[in-house]
Amino acid sequence: MADPDLARRLGLDYPIVQAPIGSATSPALAAAVSNAGGLGSLALSWRRPDESVAVMAETRRLTSRPFAVNVVLAWPQDVQVSLALDAGAGIVWTFWGDPRPYVRTVHDGGAILMHSVGSVREARSAAAGGVDVLVAQGVEAGGHVRGVDPLRVLLAQILEQVPGVPVVAAGGLADEDDVAAVIAAGASGACLGTRFLCAREANVAPIYQQQIVAAGPGTTVLTRLFNKGWPDAPHRVLRNSTVRAWETAGCPPDGQRPGEYDRVATGSDGRPVERYSDTIPTPDLQGDLEALALYAGEGAARIDRVEAAADLVRRLARPFGRPRASTGETTPGDR
Ligand SMILES: Cc1cc2nc3c(=O)[nH]c(=O)nc-3n(C[C@H](O)[C@H](O)[C@H](O)COP(=O)(O)O)c2cc1C
Repeated sequence: MADPDLARRLGLDYPIVQAPIGSATSPALAAAVSNAGGLGSLALSWRRPDESVAVMAETRRLTSRPFAVNVVLAWPQDVQVSLALDAGAGIVWTFWGDPRPYVRTVHDGGAILMHSVGSVREARSAAAGGVDVLVAQGVEAGGHVRGVDPLRVLLAQILEQVPGVPVVAAGGLADEDDVAAVIAAGASGACLGTRFLCAREANVAPIYQQQIVAAGPGTTVLTRLFNKGWPDAPHRVLRNSTVRAWETAGCPPDGQRPGEYDRVATGSDGRPVERYSDTIPTPDLQGDLEALALYAGEGAARIDRVEAAADLVRRLARPFGRPRASTGETTPGDR
């Protein structure tokens, strides 16, 4: 059952959630979303511990409002989780693994634990283990995709079969009508990733945003192609030159793919990025950035602009009306 109070419990004006979009997250993005009344997030999985400490401090400097700190459990994350709690993170958000070993630590640290799931089985296990908020990720989602069910189906199943835990909906959401639809379907919040990749504050190279804005219907593909760095994990990307060349070659196996060992891009520190790497085009990379993993959800077809995160949150929040000054409450019907 939907929890209409989730936003209030998390300290938000609106149940609009910026997904942790890997290295594209930035203090500027998370703070802009949180300052606009939504929930911003930082992804720590690919940052060194000193970088994690620095980005959390910078985000805290830019906003006094809550933001979430995310880790992917495909790797051990004890260090990052304890750094997050030491930094006073109020919301820890996990994905891709078993969150139960982290429940006690997160609660003892005074924080709430959110966990993204791709199936009812995962949702049930997380809820029984003490996770506070579930994020139902539909197969339409950009980035790494945990399950196989469309959001509509997964959300309905989790709401029915895993009662008592608020569920935020994610995957393919692009505009305020999508937000209104998932809330009407019983979600306690709406989570958007690809849409926030097109916020000005996102830490991505302009070509990545241009490719999303230019994407038409059916231009994303669910694949395991960009598997260097994170093997055996399905992900949704734009069908770019690397995907097309591989398809044209008859979808050969790893080791025999076109340009398998090409250096596609180079970091400002000289770090090479090979074709089929899981790395996204961030502004510090030089090279053929269009050929890198351009993670994007099915909602990309309906994203038509790059804009300030605050403007985006304001538009997505229209279904909830205007917040009343200082209370964070909203005026229903005020659109
Ligand atoms: C570029 C990109 C990077 C992502 N990185 C992470 C991550 O580090 N941690 C995580 O929990 N989810 C990650 N995700 C998945 C999102 O949390 C979310 O499920 C997804 O973006 C929702 O679908 P949408 O992109 O269609 O809105 C990523 C998604 C994208 C597009």
